[in-house]
Amino acid sequence: MPSITNMSRETIHNVGITIAAITIVVNVVVLTLTLTVLRPRLYPGPKIHPSVVVALDGSGDFTTISAAVAAAPSHSGKYFGIAIRPGVYHERVQVPTGKIRLAFLGSGIGVTVISFNSSSSEDMATLDIKGDGFVARDVSFENTGVPGTGYTVALANDADKTAFLHCSFKGYSGVVKAGRGSQFYSNSNIYGAVDVVWGTAAAVFQKSAVYAEKPFAGLGAIAFQQGSTPIFDGGFVFHGCSVAAAPGSRVFLGRPGGAYSRIVFMESYLLSPTAGWLPESSSLPPKTLYLGEYNNGGPGVEPGRRNMTTAEAAQFTVASFIDGDKWLPDASLEYVSGFL
Ligand SMILES: *[C@@H]1O[C@H](CO)[C@@H](O)[C@H](O)[C@H]1NC(C)=O
Ligand SMILES: *[C@@H]1O[C@H](CO)[C@@H](O)[C@H](O)[C@H]1NC(C)=O
Repeated sequence: MPSITNMSRETIHNVGITIAAITIVVNVVVLTLTLTVLRPRLYPGPKIHPSVVVALDGSGDFTTISAAVAAAPSHSGKYFGIAIRPGVYHERVQVPTGKIRLAFLGSGIGVTVISFNSSSSEDMATLDIKGDGFVARDVSFENTGVPGTGYTVALANDADKTAFLHCSFKGYSGVVKAGRGSQFYSNSNIYGAVDVVWGTAAAVFQKSAVYAEKPFAGLGAIAFQQGSTPIFDGGFVFHGCSVAAAPGSRVFLGRPGGAYSRIVFMESYLLSPTAGWLPESSSLPPKTLYLGEYNNGGPGVEPGRRNMTTAEAAQFTVASFIDGDKWLPDASLEYVSGFL
């Protein structure tokens, strides 16, 4: 297997950063347009204030994030804010089921970084969430595990009504596990090569940048949506996102992993030509799979491919798909409720 040299990884990351910068500009333009033209959207509720501070230099209440999580109240009715000062925190953080409504408040992407190397064990996520109502803003999560030794998961999100704003997720394979419940990600960056986002949750990624690195072999996939059932409406929606692949690389938009998988890209910008969609197996009943594209732009768009109608796409907005108007204002996040 050819390996990615440090040089080419660095180039890939630099291109990724450039694309992220372009994305921010595009997002600002889109946001400005959204604010000028009246469109359905909602404003966040009261700001979440930090209750404790984590700082590596000992100037806060705790020096590790795990210690702050351990000290947080269980089954709290309101958000418990944990401010995380700048620095690289080398730890694996687990939020257990009882710790609901925790909020990680970082200092910015690349400024507050949680980093873990999972090479020795499989599927050990840098941040593992089981407590519902989790919120994070302005934090980078990375898994520096050696590619090929199992999934290098930056986030394993197995919790309901979770939201991420201005975050970054980096790894090689299985970078973001959207495991269950309703999930929302906004203005965030996701880097990975293989099955970058996977799981069975109903998740909306809004105004975010997905950067697909070149895999060792074959083609990677951005979304590996695994298992909606007729009674659980899971699926992944990329709304107003930009999607780019490493130079010379192509990526599948989606790889359905179950008969009822649903993956949608809408009002997004596909910066690179993609490999389209990968039906996992020809024996899957195609009528129950839902792979859709709506109003996307860029060189990655192919006319006629999985083109959804406006009425179909309307089922995948934040308001319709994850019932966001009922719980996102509470999490104090800006979001677009309907179409952009
Ligand atoms: C992660 O751990 C593996 C195995 O111990 C090691 O080979 C690798 O260099 C580490 N990576 C980083 C970025 O520390
Ligand atoms: C999708 O369908 C609409 C309406 O028929 C059409 O205007 C648009 O060009 C189509 N887009 C693609 C990418 O095929």
